[in-house]
Amino acid sequence: MTGRTTEAAADSLSDAATLRARLAEARSAIYRTGVAPGSNGTTVRAWPVGVTEERGLALARVAKTHGARRCIETGFALGLSASFLLESCLENLHDADTHGPLVTSIDPFEDAAWKNSGVLHLRSAGVGHLHRLIQQPSEYTLPELIQAGERFDLAFVDGDHRFEHVALDIFYLRRLVGPERIIVVDDMWMASVRKAVAFYLSAGLCELEPSAPDPRSAKFAVLRVVAKGDTREWDHFADF
Ligand SMILES: C[S@@+](CC[C@H](N)C(=O)[O-])C[C@H]1O[C@@H](n2cnc3c(N)ncnc32)[C@H](O)[C@@H]1O
Repeated sequence: MTGRTTEAAADSLSDAATLRARLAEARSAIYRTGVAPGSNGTTVRAWPVGVTEERGLALARVAKTHGARRCIETGFALGLSASFLLESCLENLHDADTHGPLVTSIDPFEDAAWKNSGVLHLRSAGVGHLHRLIQQPSEYTLPELIQAGERFDLAFVDGDHRFEHVALDIFYLRRLVGPERIIVVDDMWMASVRKAVAFYLSAGLCELEPSAPDPRSAKFAVLRVVAKGDTREWDHFADF
């Protein structure tokens, strides 16, 4: 891995319930005030960048329902979605086994644009050691993680929202999570995001998870990577 990473050391969980409570507490301070502390005494506004509390809770429910214990996301910013994902992973862990980071976030602008507010947020909740941030664009990082043989239970797409970036994130994340695993794609209200999702559905590479919230009201899509893999002919193309 060539980017700047905050690697979580393998650690054992002493008290998952306490850590979950601390995550909720640190998060609600941001939701209450609308700002998060950044480095060198700066403050960073939570809106419109951060995931809303309602959507975050819905994301946490999806991760919990699908038993996710190791998640990856593109787009970290203030660390709000990462906090919800961490909480679900902590809930899904069976015991106090030794483990590495539960959530990996990729965001090239954490330092420059977000003043490390996400890192400080998770650190203030006492879970910095359970999180890994990779400060590189996802289009460079995701193929590196594939080559390194990493695997995840669930992915959340919330990085660069332009069409080809969303399409690329899903392309690589399909391989990182594997068949029957879940990819949640945020911001389905955006045409660029809807179009990228439409490709994977029409090509039969992903399906909409039937038990998930309706993407029109939840504003995110819950995709399941199909079990049969990519069975298309080499020249297949269906307009979408
Ligand atoms: C909507 S925000 C993410 C919010 C975050 N998920 C949360 O709930 O707090 C989108 C993020 O994508 C990041 N981003 C932009 N280009 C990116 C890229 N190529 N790879 C990964 N992240 C990117 C931005 O820096 C920004 O923090």
